[in-house]
Amino acid sequence: MDFTPIRISTIVPNKALNFELYIFFKEQFLKYIDIGRKLEHPHLEKLKKQQIARFYIRDLDENNYQVFLDDILNETLDNPDVPMGDKVNFAEGTATTAVEEMRKDPSSRTSYNVTQKAAKSLRKLITDNPDSLKNFYGRQAAENETLIKHCLNVSALCVSLAKNSDISEEEQNNLSIAGLLHDIGISRLAENDQQLFMRNFKSLNAEEKKIYHQHPGLGKELLQKNPYVDASITDLIYAHEEKISGDGYPERKKKLTLQEEVISLCNSYDKRVTVLNMSPKEALKVAQVDELGNYSLELINRFKKHLKDEGIV
Ligand SMILES: [Fe+2]
Ligand SMILES: [Fe+2]
Repeated sequence: MDFTPIRISTIVPNKALNFELYIFFKEQFLKYIDIGRKLEHPHLEKLKKQQIARFYIRDLDENNYQVFLDDILNETLDNPDVPMGDKVNFAEGTATTAVEEMRKDPSSRTSYNVTQKAAKSLRKLITDNPDSLKNFYGRQAAENETLIKHCLNVSALCVSLAKNSDISEEEQNNLSIAGLLHDIGISRLAENDQQLFMRNFKSLNAEEKKIYHQHPGLGKELLQKNPYVDASITDLIYAHEEKISGDGYPERKKKLTLQEEVISLCNSYDKRVTVLNMSPKEALKVAQVDELGNYSLELINRFKKHLKDEGIV
């Protein structure tokens, strides 16, 4: 039997499961919860405290799991009676599952399905619930999960900033997906070189830059092999390190669409906060001073106002 890992946090409390849940213990998969059973709140909390992050489902249950996610998406995120913490847990868990699965199997239809659902959940959470961006953004990354946290943050910032803009609903969904997957190319660098992600970009020497700057192209290439991923998404991913000053990469483009500018700005801002450990205030200052000319003044001002309105700075 084959198994797929899923995040515990994609399981919301008190909802009957339509698939079997397994754990991996002493080198084998053990059935943990049967179909039709529910996980109660205290039980889930206990598992989280024990730092058990993953469950497994049988591959043959994947469709049922997708249906389960759809149901939660429809029932939970809109429900005012569901606590914000549960909503954030679900959106975060689904998005993390999506990013991990796509990294492992970029051309899989199932992984991309989860990614689309995760992007939708995240967008719904952020656009429909006041204070959700602050709640989501303020969460600490788990150990060794800085890159995943960065991808989740970029997606959340993008959709939050794109709300009430000229960016259409469909493009907002694309931004959400592209945010989650924008750095997937890093996983295709040699293992040693993947660490370049954690370094301050200013400290990279010419050779290191040359290597690291391949990641948008590698990401695009990888996702183009998946027939379900739309070209507008791979294009956004390819452009996420470009700046209107022409100082970006890989194409040194000077003309960016509004969506490209949004993903690039959210990416460079969050990299400073999540990876380089700057405070949101400091990172905003850098965006306004050091990145002057990299983004339109209008967008920077909008971004600043938005971070203030959302209580982040
Ligand atoms: Fe990047
Ligand atoms: Fe990034």
